[in-house]
Amino acid sequence: MGLSALMARDGDVAMARAAGAAGIPFVVSGSSLTPMEDVVKANGSAWFQAYLPGEDDRVRALVARVEKAGFGTLVLTADTAVLANRENNQRAGFSTPLRITPRLIWDFAIKPRWVLGTFLPTLMQGMPHFENSFATRGAPIISKQVARDFGRKDHLNWDHLALIRDCWPGKLVLKGVIAPADVAQARVVGCDAVILSNHGGRQLDHAMSPLRVLPEARAQAGDMALLIDGGIRRGTDVIKALALGADMVLVGRPFLYAATLGGQPMVETAIEILKTEVHRNLGLLGLRDLSEIGPTLLHPV
Ligand SMILES: Cc1cc2nc3c(=O)[nH]c(=O)nc-3n(C[C@H](O)[C@H](O)[C@H](O)COP(=O)(O)O)c2cc1C
Repeated sequence: MGLSALMARDGDVAMARAAGAAGIPFVVSGSSLTPMEDVVKANGSAWFQAYLPGEDDRVRALVARVEKAGFGTLVLTADTAVLANRENNQRAGFSTPLRITPRLIWDFAIKPRWVLGTFLPTLMQGMPHFENSFATRGAPIISKQVARDFGRKDHLNWDHLALIRDCWPGKLVLKGVIAPADVAQARVVGCDAVILSNHGGRQLDHAMSPLRVLPEARAQAGDMALLIDGGIRRGTDVIKALALGADMVLVGRPFLYAATLGGQPMVETAIEILKTEVHRNLGLLGLRDLSEIGPTLLHPV
């Protein structure tokens, strides 16, 4: 999740450390305000998520930076070829970079805990920038005129994925596809995994829930790993996804909300809650461990 370090004090590092302590991966965003190099220092097994433009030189330059930083897994997000029309953000006066308006000043004034606990301490270390969009630093988080450079993501295609596969020696994960045919193509191109995702429902209205296509996607994935995200909130959600064919689930907002409330310790608590739920639910299902989860748990309606 981009902008985590604006919502929670040092949010990326807090989540990366909590994940490290629990022995689970953390994915740092290409729209993060924390340099990727700092995140991989906080958790040596963190993954890097890139938004790459369809421009070979920029692809190669960012991939080289990610490799040099020491990441072993690169996640390419493919569902953001153009920006979503987020009318809720427009109504709230939210943009990136943030524009100082009377509305923004008022919103800051009514959130003193966040201003004093997160925003000002962050600002005192220097103006946050989009650090990981390209090989070099991007736009500042607050600016009157600067626009973010998104590159030509609308030109990104399967040939670019093949190029990335060619120049990236680590694990390659494609995030943000739903169509089973795309899962099959990702396997052909040599991806190590796909994350079925509709970006948490934040991009395209009426995009279907990835859970609905999970069995079909599983059939196309073969022995390639299949991951899923979106709305995983309780232990039973994890078990349902695994029963429908996922190898692993990812969790976004709940851990970010935990980080905003109480930093690394609260994220560790959130992870523990989910883990406890999974274990308890396994017990209630009469299962001993995750490997016993399968389609027999499901009752077709
Ligand atoms: C605030 C926010 C920022 C996000 N930023 C990114 C991003 O930079 N890159 C990306 O691939 N997905 C991004 N996403 C999507 C998440 O990675 C994830 O797919 C989505 O939140 C679904 O999981 P959840 O329902 O558990 O939150 C973002 C989601 C949120 C809520």
